Amino acid sequence: MRRRETWRVAAHRGRPDIMKRTRRSQTPALRSREWFGKDDRWGVAHRAWLRAEGFSEKVFQGKPVIGICNSWSELNNCNAHLRQVAEAVKRGVWEAGGFPLEFPTISLGEMLMKPTTMLYRNLMAMDVEECLRAYPLDGVALLCGCDKTTPAQLMGAASADIPAIMIPGGPMLRGMCRGEELGSGTDVRRMWQEVKAGRMSEEEWCEVESCVSRSAGHCTVMGTASTMACIAEALGMTLPGAADLPASDSRRLALAERSGARIVEMAREDIRPSAIMTRRALENAIRVDMAIGGSTNAIIHLIAIAGRLGISLPLEAFDRISRSTPVLANIRPSGKFLMEDFCYAGGLPALMKEIAPILDTKAPTVTGKAMGENIARAECYNREVIKPRGEPFKPEGGTVILRGNLAPAGAVIKQSAVSPELARHKGRAVVFENNRDLLERVDDPKLAVDESSVLVLKNAGPKGAPGMPEWGHLPIPTKLLKAGVRDMVRLSDARISGTSYGTIVVHIAPESSVGGPLAVVRNGDWIDLDVTERRLELLVGSAEIKKRLRAFRPAAPHYERGYGRLFLDHVLQAHEGCDFDFLRGRSADRMPPPERFPNPSV
Ligand code: FES
Repeated sequence: MRRRETWRVAAHRGRPDIMKRTRRSQTPALRSREWFGKDDRWGVAHRAWLRAEGFSEKVFQGKPVIGICNSWSELNNCNAHLRQVAEAVKRGVWEAGGFPLEFPTISLGEMLMKPTTMLYRNLMAMDVEECLRAYPLDGVALLCGCDKTTPAQLMGAASADIPAIMIPGGPMLRGMCRGEELGSGTDVRRMWQEVKAGRMSEEEWCEVESCVSRSAGHCTVMGTASTMACIAEALGMTLPGAADLPASDSRRLALAERSGARIVEMAREDIRPSAIMTRRALENAIRVDMAIGGSTNAIIHLIAIAGRLGISLPLEAFDRISRSTPVLANIRPSGKFLMEDFCYAGGLPALMKEIAPILDTKAPTVTGKAMGENIARAECYNREVIKPRGEPFKPEGGTVILRGNLAPAGAVIKQSAVSPELARHKGRAVVFENNRDLLERVDDPKLAVDESSVLVLKNAGPKGAPGMPEWGHLPIPTKLLKAGVRDMVRLSDARISGTSYGTIVVHIAPESSVGGPLAVVRNGDWIDLDVTERRLELLVGSAEIKKRLRAFRPAAPHYERGYGRLFLDHVLQAHEGCDFDFLRGRSADRMPPPERFPNPSV
């Protein structure tokens, strides 16, 4: 029915391009033709209203309509250059015979948005999904950058399942201060410790502010934004080399132009995210996450993306892959270099080529070629930055999964950033009931704490905080900093920034506010951490733990109404990806023909 209708309309309008294609090809009908390909009242109305923007009739002559889903915002410095990137994408779309239409979604700026962007990742994913479903789009170019904007777009695109290509915004230029290279959050965090310890002057500290962020683009270390850009590329959702080109590098705009051209072809070929983000691609992405020493946040996001595709990714998959994947990227916070160095050393394609024997190189990608073909000609130009597989930077993957009576559903630690002397540690708990309690007491000179203590933060998880903020990098008490302590074992149900480092256990599940065992840890309890054995135990008898849990009473919810209430009612735990329970899976229904939804104003 649809083919006959398209043919009829094409014939009526004397459009040989459409007629030829409709007659001879197996090409699926473009979705946008439901809006623009008819001569009835609604077809005319849809074209007429869009022509208000100054488009000629030519744009409706069978061109695939390509949405440019832009998370640009002046409130999000990491994505502040994406209007320019969008223009480059448009060039590519026009060149390839498509019709580009840019549209905004909410943007999640990690630095300014409170209490945490994680509270809003699912909201952005819903925004993306519903825009893709509701508008006449045949394909979409996803423009992202800052931490949560990448997974939110991938989740939304996975659920909407129309052809999609991602163009990450790239890292900002490296920080430079008094001859020293600075990596976004990692070095600011380190320097703040030096200020508190009295080893850095006010003048130097002020200078850091003007030197650390020298351009638009996301953070310069292998934090969450860099990790998620690498994961998008490893999933096959970007053109090769998209993850690490600096934001201000002219080659990023050229890549955006090429991406614009490619999404037009993908729309014609009807290559959808579900055909690319398969289980094999997800396992490739986990392996890459391990090899780059990626952010712990990637685990949550990958589980959520997989959930949208109906694929279960248990935490054990991460641990299994971690054990057989060496860390090759010598990049902060685990290593020495920055994302710019990674790019100039050959970038992600060079790293992936190095681990090709343990990747599924047949996984399909947006290029239309298998991953193995995409990386076949990659070369490494700096073996200090990207280590050979035979001489890895670290022998095992960056992130590992812990289990034990303190984390029955799992916990996460970035072992590549752990102090070796603390990888196996028993210490007494110093407990903070919530983040406010932590901030009020951690620097109290009377706090009973020493370098062997284990700092414990409760009520910082998905429901407890709420939104699971990056509070897991508990500050070391100032009195210990002054004594020269630079790392301690720290535990929480929060997340940490990808720029964090140290012996920090996060994502403890179930979280304390829903009655996970973390809720009943008391000051002075012994805690046993063994990263090699993947163990996290509260050394308290099981009868006593049960007794304490029976006495547990949850706190009142943080929100009574609005989006916050929706979040609290539906958010899943960390090991389930923190998606909403009702968002898992794909949209079963493609958008029905728009004439079923006439606009009464026409
Ligand atoms: Fe946006 Fe770091 S603040 S990536």
